[in-house]
Amino acid sequence: MAQGASLFPISVDQSGLIVSSLTTDIIPKIKFVYVTPSHQFPTGATLSLSRRLELLAWAHKSGTMIIEDDYDSEYRYGERPIPALQGLDQANSVIYLGTFSKVLFPALRLGYLVLPQNLVHIFARAKWLADRQCSLLEQYALTDFITEGHLERHIRRMRALYDQRRQTLVQSLFSYFGDKIEISGENAGMHLMVKINTKLTDDKIVQLAALAGVSIGAAYPQYLKHSPGSEFILGYAELNEQKIQEGVRRLAQVILI
Ligand SMILES: Cc1ncc(COP(=O)(O)O)c(C=O)c1O
Repeated sequence: MAQGASLFPISVDQSGLIVSSLTTDIIPKIKFVYVTPSHQFPTGATLSLSRRLELLAWAHKSGTMIIEDDYDSEYRYGERPIPALQGLDQANSVIYLGTFSKVLFPALRLGYLVLPQNLVHIFARAKWLADRQCSLLEQYALTDFITEGHLERHIRRMRALYDQRRQTLVQSLFSYFGDKIEISGENAGMHLMVKINTKLTDDKIVQLAALAGVSIGAAYPQYLKHSPGSEFILGYAELNEQKIQEGVRRLAQVILI
């Protein structure tokens, strides 16, 4: 955006980005397609394998680069992981972005790119011009953390913990709201999206929830156009099971009166 790019919103369904919406009339204008295939933000949809292959074929044919932001792929519950676009790509069409913000903590400010060989030099120069380099101290500490096996153990432990919290949230939502809600995106990541059947406006719900001490986000600001409304983003990673149950109870109390 800072470089003058324009955004074209592309529709998403429960299998992720709808590749057929990338119609031929917009192809000449598109330089990059940005996707979060493991867990679309905010719906939480996972891009299916067939859509991944379709997107890669489309990118290759149209000469477009895909930016794959794999920001929380480490957390996937009960389903087999789908290979990253970057791993499936055979035409150097993918720029892969990873981050340690979700898997460790955001203040670390360390991430990584997996680039086609011909782009490595350009990106290295751009990084140098932007901020020289990330802190070496943090990079060395993280290297030790990874090579000594701590990161792998941490991910395994946190996956089990977040899975419990996620299940508690889903069960609590259904037990308090019953058929007044639809949940999506609960099979991966650290948040899910809930659609609530209510006449209250989204802002009113966020406000009532905040007054009851519950922090939820409306999904509508994440849409460039035409939000369906009544959709909310609920993060669960940092709350214990008791807080999750209590939070949902309070939410139901303010919404279902
Ligand atoms: C879609 C998405 N990508 C990436 C990130 C991570 O960004 P950063 O590595 O700058 O902390 C986030 C964090 O919330 C996110 O929501």
